[in-house]
Amino acid sequence: MDDELVRRLEELKRRRRAVILAHNYQLPEIQDVADYIGDSLELAKKSMSIDADVIVFAGVSFMAEMAKALNPDKIVLHPVPNSRCPLADFLTPQQILEAKEKYNGAPFVIYVNSNIDAKAVSDYIVTSASAAKLVSRLDDELILFGPDKNLADHTALMTGKKIIAVPSNGHCPVHEYMVRIEDVIEARKQYENPYIMVHPEAPREARLAADYVGSTSQMLRRIREVEAGTYVIGTEEGLVYRARKLYPSKNIVALQPKAVCIDMKKISLRRIVESLENMKPRVELDPTVLSKVNEILRRSLELIK
Ligand code: 13P
Ligand code: SF4
Repeated sequence: MDDELVRRLEELKRRRRAVILAHNYQLPEIQDVADYIGDSLELAKKSMSIDADVIVFAGVSFMAEMAKALNPDKIVLHPVPNSRCPLADFLTPQQILEAKEKYNGAPFVIYVNSNIDAKAVSDYIVTSASAAKLVSRLDDELILFGPDKNLADHTALMTGKKIIAVPSNGHCPVHEYMVRIEDVIEARKQYENPYIMVHPEAPREARLAADYVGSTSQMLRRIREVEAGTYVIGTEEGLVYRARKLYPSKNIVALQPKAVCIDMKKISLRRIVESLENMKPRVELDPTVLSKVNEILRRSLELIK
């Protein structure tokens, strides 16, 4: 840890009245200085109750956009704007409008890992932690869901509803290719009394073979609640650092250490300090899009209370 950078950061945070929100996948040097760390849902909720003028968001761009959509009057800094989630680009507004027309106006539930213009034409916004709860509270039996086909499938299995994935092949490359059934089988052989957890963005075979499927923070809670010999984390490897810090006496390993989201890792402590010094790059959203997304997000959060 660079002590001089940390000192500058603390001084800037005081001067700017800033807080740092960081996703569970962020680099250790960021997790160590963040004011709040969490999954997408926790960070969005936290952003709504922050007493500060500036939010520095250490995560990918859709997460920083959610903080801005929920806090139009605050300055939201996203230190590396090209830290983006490739899953988001699978879904366009046009695809959503076409699907709604094809399926007689069925509700479109959009995963938060999506672009802001797509969110603005959707009906509900969910995270991996809230998808099943929200969908189960809708009266409709047919739901359109995108862009992640695996979360769509997981939500269908959890709720018993008919869910159509739009598009049919949207996926996160990290989870689709690095959280595999082969890894789960190998972990069962390798570890004594393992408790294997995977993210709902993982393929169906891996999810069915695991002991638990949940969001990043839901996995952290399971480690506290369940007794096991080894806790095996089947998601982006950054969560392992957070889990070990929270539970130093437990044996915690990555299902696949190569599961690295390069976009999440683009943000560094230095870039955070620079952004607070220069007060940029700021997240700016078109006002019409912002108010539409704000409305959809608040409606969605209300439904999962
Ligand atoms: P969580 O909301 O579970 O933290 O997931 C975010 C994400 O990007 C998963 O890849
Ligand atoms: Fe997007 Fe996958 Fe990275 Fe999560 S891990 S931010 S879904 S690319």
